[in-house]
Amino acid sequence: MNKGKFLALILIVAAFAAGLGLGKGRQESSAPVAVSSGGSGANYGGGFSAADNAFTLSGNSKSVAGPPMTDVIVVVNDGESIQQAVQNAEPGTTIQVMPGTYKETVFIDKDGIRLIGIIRDSQRPVLDGEGTLNDAILFSGNNIVVENFKITRYKGNGIMSQAGNNWEIRNNFIVDTGVYGIFPQLGQNGVIEHNVVSGIEDAAIYVGMSDNVHVAYNDVYDSVAGIEIENSRHAIVEANRVSNNTGGILAFITPGLPIKTTFDVIIRNNFILANNHVNFGAPGSTVAGIPAGTGILVMAADDVVIEGNIIKDNKNAGILITDHGNASNVTADPESDPNSDRVKILNNTMINNGFEPVSLISAYMLTELKTGNPDIVSVGPTADSCIINPEQYITVGLGSFTDCDFTNTATIGNYLLAPVPPREIKPEDKGKIAYLGICAGCHTYTGRMIGPPVQIIQALYMDNPQGIADFIANPTKKRDDYPEMPPQDYLDEATRLAVAKYMLQVTK
Ligand code: HEC
Repeated sequence: MNKGKFLALILIVAAFAAGLGLGKGRQESSAPVAVSSGGSGANYGGGFSAADNAFTLSGNSKSVAGPPMTDVIVVVNDGESIQQAVQNAEPGTTIQVMPGTYKETVFIDKDGIRLIGIIRDSQRPVLDGEGTLNDAILFSGNNIVVENFKITRYKGNGIMSQAGNNWEIRNNFIVDTGVYGIFPQLGQNGVIEHNVVSGIEDAAIYVGMSDNVHVAYNDVYDSVAGIEIENSRHAIVEANRVSNNTGGILAFITPGLPIKTTFDVIIRNNFILANNHVNFGAPGSTVAGIPAGTGILVMAADDVVIEGNIIKDNKNAGILITDHGNASNVTADPESDPNSDRVKILNNTMINNGFEPVSLISAYMLTELKTGNPDIVSVGPTADSCIINPEQYITVGLGSFTDCDFTNTATIGNYLLAPVPPREIKPEDKGKIAYLGICAGCHTYTGRMIGPPVQIIQALYMDNPQGIADFIANPTKKRDDYPEMPPQDYLDEATRLAVAKYMLQVTK
């Protein structure tokens, strides 16, 4: 948080507190306390209408990719190439990868590929980027399954999908790998479960611009952000263990992306423990602004339900709810609502959080004459948010929260669907979506970010989009004072040219 914002906030909360009349406080008495029970109370209806989609999966089925499209099975042995097998495969092929070490990047641009690691004597296939390769597995096909791999020492992504629907990413062990561990982008209907992910510089599990996603039973630790739900809707994050990250579980809107909203996120029954890791995010990135010690962060997301989590030993706050106005490293987007509205906090077990909050939060506590360590902090405006049994927590900034009229989400198993049709991206939108979704993460128009300013690039390439398209497929080192740009060769040729053209005509 920069100083200006910090000061402005203090002034605002001070004025707010004065207006309300301080010292309202809760009553101390020995009369019985009214307690809402999660188990037998009213149910939450959820934000996704199953009736609108003829395919909704029943019960707990997680088979969103559907059964294998064909019964063709190809086996890849140690010493052979997985990518070669993918290239030769017809859509619908199951590719079994035997234990061994594979030093390659695997691109899957066809549908129905099931990439299944075979574990023998507890040995699984290892994808090893040796600190030089950028990505381990990238897919843009639909109905893709990736299971049972160990992925290590890549610089960029462990497993990334770009605009594929119906994916299952399960039982992988991703360690010390680059910027994102598991990163589905622009997809619908996906499962991320039973993965172990650690040592990631941005988000270990990063769901971006996606819908109908289920993130469950993962163990996520030693990363900057544990599990991130960004510009996504209808997501459930449950039964994960999220520990020793800088921030544990995040639901937020990153401004400036082509999809402008995050809503209907259920965060329940997770273990969110001691997420106090020093922030080692890349300077300028959104996650670099997360205060260390934040269990759950909600920023500008709506309809987020937080239920049944064990949130323990997070030094800044157990739950921090904020808006774009109060966040560092964020420029507001006029097309995104900056506030977190309709946040619903049900029963959670919160122990020993907020014992070393950032100074802003300490100051905020003072303005409300609160003592003790904050479990739940809400900064900035929020409309129609609610909490049950607030007496169990130390809270600050929750003056506008009312009592929730439901106490559990038990009737919602998941938001998954039977396989949905592939996403259609109109040719004229290809460049824009790739630019905003990928390039804008490292390039801004005027300033230096991770890469050089777009203005400089425009001056260099002017009317030569093909030059950019060629460069990004196979970048060479150009500048001493910048890192090398990672190759974008997972984008097909048409998209590379479209994004190059788009980059040459942006004006802000
Ligand atoms: C992970 C960060 C990152 C992403 C994502 C990224 N770039 Fe870059 N880009 C860089 C860096 C760093 C450089 C500077 C490399 C150098 O000078 O050696 C660069 C340089 C460039 C250049 C200048 C080449 C030259 O001849 O000087 C172009 C053009 C470019 N990027 C286009 C793109 C496009 C288009 C995208 C999206 C498809 C993109 N970049 C995505 C980091 C990134």
